[in-house]
Amino acid sequence: MNKDNIILGIESSCDDTSAAILINGLICSNVIANQSIHEAYGGVVPELASRAHQENIVPVIDQALKQAQITIKDINAVAFTRGPGLLGSLLVGTSFAKSLALALEIPLLDVHHMKAHIHAHFIKTKETINKSVPNFPFLCLTVSGGHTQIVLVESPLKMEIIGETLDDAVGEAFDKAAKVIGLNYPGGPLIDRLAQNGNQNAFQFTFPKVGELNYSFSGLKTQFLNFINKEKSKDKEFLKNRINDVCASYQKHLINYLLLNFEKAMIKYSIKDIAIAGGVSANSELRKSLNQLGDKYLCNVHIPDFEYCTDNAAMIAMSGQFLLENKTYADQGISPLSRMNMD
Ligand code: KG4
Ligand code: ZN
Repeated sequence: MNKDNIILGIESSCDDTSAAILINGLICSNVIANQSIHEAYGGVVPELASRAHQENIVPVIDQALKQAQITIKDINAVAFTRGPGLLGSLLVGTSFAKSLALALEIPLLDVHHMKAHIHAHFIKTKETINKSVPNFPFLCLTVSGGHTQIVLVESPLKMEIIGETLDDAVGEAFDKAAKVIGLNYPGGPLIDRLAQNGNQNAFQFTFPKVGELNYSFSGLKTQFLNFINKEKSKDKEFLKNRINDVCASYQKHLINYLLLNFEKAMIKYSIKDIAIAGGVSANSELRKSLNQLGDKYLCNVHIPDFEYCTDNAAMIAMSGQFLLENKTYADQGISPLSRMNMD
């Protein structure tokens, strides 16, 4: 086996501990330990997340190595998520990566979590070696639990945010609405599932008005809460009878709002390759609607594989590969950042 290019990727920015092995450009393993402990609290509890990362990180890395049929000594670069994310969580992955790089005397690569979500489009495995990847420049709608951004991707490492949320992220708009209607955390996938059997046109919501390509989701969250309270005061059985219609209408509204500005960006920048990334890109309505938008403008549409939408270390290893190619290394003095610019 050619040992010249074996990258270990480590992700620990929020509540998933993940490790992946990239060998000569191909992902050979991608192990993720989810933390179900947060479900009971209706959101991620930072202190519990950090503790769970400490428990999970060694077994997760062990499993990733085993699945890739290599040992830790075969690794010749280590990539880790530096930020943005929860500081206590980031610290676990960062400390592990730094110690490993020091012990093995290999390059240390610090990865920007949101750039990595975009790099998920370049992940290939033995089975998907011939898949097409986005052409540069492309426009990416990056949607997760902490971010909502329209990104102009000029090259693997050159990205510019041209629109973003001024308050909450769209993932939060899903998760907080889910909590209001009694669903567990994370509520996004549950709303998506319930919406499959609902009427998208049953209820109407309004669009917040902010700058041209920017978003605001905090008002929508309040609008949803007021709507549910009002309906429940009229009919105690409202949620029991109409939960599918509520989910379908609210989900459709969020996706329409996301794509309203994204379409404006496509026109403004005349870009023919469009993509989505981040946890919310797993949403079935968003995936369907992006394809329709692509058809309308004859664009190449790029939708990440399901397993690489939510947090994973394969995308961190992929970012690591781009950093390695660019000879952009981190040193042992590096520390994690809860907030981090894209440039
Ligand atoms: O990227 P990610 O795993 O973590 C962050 O970096 O934040 O995104 C998590 C977010 C959560 O808000 C979750 O509810 C949302 O992605 N999500 C979805 C779906 N799957 C995950 N939202 C809507 N529909 C889905 N199918
Ligand atoms: Zn993420």
